[in-house]
Amino acid sequence: MRSSRRLRSLLAVPAALALALAGLAAPSAASAPGPETAGQYVVTGPRTGQQRSQVARTGAAINAVRAGGVEVSAIPSEVRAIRRLGFAVRPAPVQTANPSAAPSTAATSYHTFAEMRQEVDSVVAAHPAIARQFVVGKSYQGRDIVGVKISDNVATDENEPEVMIIANIHARERLTAEQALDYIGQLTTGYGSNSRITNLVNSREIYVMPMVNPDGQVYDMTSDTQPGRMWRKNRQPNPTSTGTDLNRNFAYKWGCCGGSSGNGSSETYRGTGPESATETKVLADFVRSRVVGGKQQLGMFLDIHSDAELVLWPFGYTYSNTVPGSMSADEEAAHRTIGRELAGTNGFAPEQSSDLYITDGTTDDYTWGQQRIFSFTFELAGGSFYPAPSAIAGEVQRSREALLRLTDYADCPYRAIGKQSQYCA
Ligand code: ARG
Ligand code: ZN
Repeated sequence: MRSSRRLRSLLAVPAALALALAGLAAPSAASAPGPETAGQYVVTGPRTGQQRSQVARTGAAINAVRAGGVEVSAIPSEVRAIRRLGFAVRPAPVQTANPSAAPSTAATSYHTFAEMRQEVDSVVAAHPAIARQFVVGKSYQGRDIVGVKISDNVATDENEPEVMIIANIHARERLTAEQALDYIGQLTTGYGSNSRITNLVNSREIYVMPMVNPDGQVYDMTSDTQPGRMWRKNRQPNPTSTGTDLNRNFAYKWGCCGGSSGNGSSETYRGTGPESATETKVLADFVRSRVVGGKQQLGMFLDIHSDAELVLWPFGYTYSNTVPGSMSADEEAAHRTIGRELAGTNGFAPEQSSDLYITDGTTDDYTWGQQRIFSFTFELAGGSFYPAPSAIAGEVQRSREALLRLTDYADCPYRAIGKQSQYCA
């Protein structure tokens, strides 16, 4: 008895010490030993962008900022770190997933990965002159990352301004794939009857990728149970757990600024290095492949997320609006003016990404910072990651105009600030 109690207390001391040390040494919650599982929480207290950045710095993913608080996905060590900042954290209401793995029709439910493929197959079959399917590359688990090119003379690489739109990089953000598919539908069915759409298709080369994180999407949707699985990352194993946040894994200011996590269990895990995630590499390779004759052909990039109701532009890694050599006053003004115009059509809030909170390694910081493609991130509405299927049509309709205007601006974004003759002559 006595000796076992002594043994226990001997063991307990180093354990307590280790815990205390871990708490001291890990203000960014990066050193939890084993895998942790993320949960959904509402954080109250943060009011400013700086305070939200403090929360993001713990590694928690900030999903939406609402009147009732900041909605986050966080692992236990991150929850503790947020509380140490002095903010209150309580569990969020469960988000119930649409039981959409059941047979569905496109009009009334979310597309599964297989249904997305069928829809793309049928669109390109019905509009072979203007729509062409391509495989951008393979996901970690070997699924096709599908793209659709839409343009007149679609088989030819013409000298036309190019647009790239990606969706569903975060697996659970299902409405985003519906928005991308709707956009493909608008362009193909409107061609020849709607003069505005006909002109856009004739004068642009448009690449749309409705599900760029297929492994995550399938994982999130396959066991479509109650509650929803709430999966965000890809499905690639990492040193402690599974999944890299693809929107923290891009090769511009990767991991620079406290806008991502080094903990493999975290929802914002940045990966072992820039482009360490298979899907990031595939997407970045595609972006780089559009440099033809030394010139980046893509004039406009859009990454569609949900559901914070925002129109965002770079940079996310810094609070500065302009950065010498990488964001001039005119470049910032063009982004801001277009962002505000687009937001005026869908009613979302326009702001520079970092006004929300600091992020690093995101898609749009890369496409602008590294490639000088005018870049935006949308956060669609919906109220959750799994809005009722009956809400899909209305939410998608809401951003149609914004997508068309963004497409239109690809030839010369400086038109937005009246400086086309200076920059685009
Ligand atoms: N919710 C998105 C995410 O966490 C938005 C990121 C906004 N910042 C940006 N640079 N795009 O990935
Ligand atoms: Zn997202």
